[in-house]
Amino acid sequence: PRSAISPTLAPLRPMYACPTTPAPEPPSTASLIRTLRLQPHIEGGYFAETDRDPLRVPNPFLARSPSPTLQTARPAGKDGDATRSASTSIFYLLTKERPLGAWHRNRGRTVHTLHWGRGRYVVIHADEVGEGGVEGGKARVETFVVGRNVEKGERLQWVVEGGKYKASFLLGEEEEEEEEDEDEEDEGKGSERGLLISETVVPGFEYSDHDFLRPDRLRELVTPEQAEELAWMLRS
Ligand code: GUN
Repeated sequence: PRSAISPTLAPLRPMYACPTTPAPEPPSTASLIRTLRLQPHIEGGYFAETDRDPLRVPNPFLARSPSPTLQTARPAGKDGDATRSASTSIFYLLTKERPLGAWHRNRGRTVHTLHWGRGRYVVIHADEVGEGGVEGGKARVETFVVGRNVEKGERLQWVVEGGKYKASFLLGEEEEEEEEDEDEEDEGKGSERGLLISETVVPGFEYSDHDFLRPDRLRELVTPEQAEELAWMLRS
C-alpha cells in the first residue's frame, strides 16, 4: 500500500508503540531528562523552557493581525493580552516511551534545530485554506525526515510557520519505511538517546496561542484517506 500523504512513501505509522501509560524511561534516558530538567509535555515527549526573552513586544495576534488564521480567538485576558515575550526557546525530546508529538498548532512561527536522533514531521498547511477548507478543498500535507543524513534530504533545521498543524514521531537510525517487517529491537538501533531538538518560537510561547487538532477538524482539513492515515497522531 501507498501513503495518502506522499506516493513515494509507505503509509505513515508509528515506529514505536505510543502507550497511553508510558513505562519508566531506561536509566540513560532518565539521566538525560534529569540533567536537562525536562518535564513531560502535553503534546507528548519532554521539554524544558531554556530561554524567555525579557523583551516584551506588542502581541501580533490580536484582531487586525495580517493573517486571519493567527488572530486570537479568545478574549483578551486581565493583562489585556497586549504583549508577548519577544521569543522563547525549549529543548524537546522524543523517547521510545514517549515517541509522539501529537497534532497541534502554535500562532508563533517555530524554528527547529536538531541535536541528535531522527524523526518524521508531518505538517498540515491549514493556514493556506479558509475555515472548513477552500471552497470545500483540502489543505496541503507535507512530511519530511529530520536527521543528520543531509545527503539523503534529512533536515538539520526546519521552520513551521504559525497557524499550521504539526505532529512528529521518533524514528530509528536505520532505514525507515522500506516495507520490511523488522523487530522493534532492530529498528531502534541508534535511537537510544531519542530525538533531541531545540525549538525557538517567535513571538514567545503562550498556552493561549496553542491548541490541539481535533478529530473533526482533521477530517475537514484533509481527504478521508489522509485523515485515516494521520489520526493515530491525534492527542489520545
Ligand atoms: N510550555 C508548555 N509547552 C511549551 C512550549 O511548547 N514552549 C514553551 N516555551 N513553553 C511551553
